[in-house]
Formats: sequence, structure tokens, C-alpha cells
Amino acid sequence: MKQPHAFLHRCHGAISTEDRMRIFRQKPVTIWLTGLSGAGKSTVAFELEEQLVDLGHACYVLDGDNIRHGLACDLGFDRNDRRENIRRVAHVAQLMNDAGLIVITALISPMREDRAMAREIIGRGKFIETYLSAPVDTCARRDPKGLYAKARSGEIVSFTGVSAPYEAPPDPELHIDTDTLTAEESVARIFAHLRENSLATTGQGQEASA
Ligand code: ADX
Repeated sequence: MKQPHAFLHRCHGAISTEDRMRIFRQKPVTIWLTGLSGAGKSTVAFELEEQLVDLGHACYVLDGDNIRHGLACDLGFDRNDRRENIRRVAHVAQLMNDAGLIVITALISPMREDRAMAREIIGRGKFIETYLSAPVDTCARRDPKGLYAKARSGEIVSFTGVSAPYEAPPDPELHIDTDTLTAEESVARIFAHLRENSLATTGQGQEASA
């Protein structure tokens, strides 16, 4: 992990993470979605966000395509730039968690090592690695952005699943097969996990533990 400059000190205000947890009445975690382009990350992320907000949770989606329009607009898709992309998003997620928000990230995040780095930055207990899996042929058939066709013709280089690697998580907190499950079913799986771990309200008066 990158180290800060030697002559830096951390400052702390009077408001603690626990104070913010009480204000928002939730335990802030990061639901880190990983999977191929077209596996359903953005769809699942925004649907999950909507349902959490409906239940009174404060949460926010960090979506790869959106992040690459601003925070990561200087980055491409080679090994180092993808790592830097993950590093930046992980730090933003950590800050948002510290502010009390539940974060959902939707990044391909193809390399194990980079996801391990994100877990370290965010904090082990707060990182819910969620693997959305679908075979590359399924994703290419969906091809919502027309990118697989361009990758297969060589117009786009280093495209994950075609000309760049995707390393599946060996031991994710959640593994959801989006080849066979709908987006609604996938979101329901994530909700079940959040409730089992007392991280989401039931919507029936029961609070998430803070
Ligand atoms: S990551 O590898 O650094 O995690 P990220 O999720 O931010 O990727 O961005 C992926 C999005 O960028 C894809 O959904 C796709 O729309 C677009 N994209 C453009 N070029 C590539 C490429 N070479 N590989 C993967 N995605 C690409």
C-alpha cells in the first residue's frame, strides 16, 4: 500500500464514527461488487441503493463508469491504472463509511491483489466482497454498451474477459450467479446477507444494530 509523506499528522475532530453510526442508525459497510462488464454490477448496485434508501438507510453508489468521468478520468485500463482506480475508490469508500454512509461500489476490480488492497483500506470488518458471476459469453451476448463487439474486433484493447484477465474471488463474502438469477433476486440475496449480519433494517420497525 502507498505510504503518506513522512511529515504528516492525522487530526481528529470530536465526532467519532460511533457518533455518526448513532445519527444514521446503521453500521456503515462497503458492499464491494466485482465481476465482468455486463455481469450486472451497476443494475444491482442502483437497485440495492433504492431499496436501502426506501428503508431509511443512507447509502451511495460508487460506479466505475461514473468515477471514470471525474475522480479517475486520468486513468486508463492497464494494470497500474486499474490498481490506482481501485485505490482511489477504496479511499473514497472508507471516507464515506467513516462519515456514516453505507457504500456500494460497482467496479470490475479484476485483480485479487487489488481487491485485497481495497479490503485493507476500507477495513476487514466493513468490506463485503460480492462476486457477481456470469460467463463471458453471457456478458458478451448482453453487451449493453457494445464494448465486447469492439473488444473482439480489436478496436478496444485490454478488455476484461477478452484481452485482459479477470481473477475470480476465491473466498468472497457473497457469490451471486447473475447468469441464472434476475437483478431482483440478486439484490434479495445481498439483503438476506445484510439482515443476517444485522446491517439492514427489516423495514418493520427493527433497527440495524449501530
Ligand atoms: S476497473 O477494471 O478499473 O475496475 P471500471 O469498473 O472502473 O474498471 O471500469 C469499467 C468500465 O469501463 C466498463 O464497464 C466499460 O464500460 C468501460 N471500459 C472501457 N474500456 C475498458 C476495458 N479495456 N476493460 C474494461 N472495461 C472497459
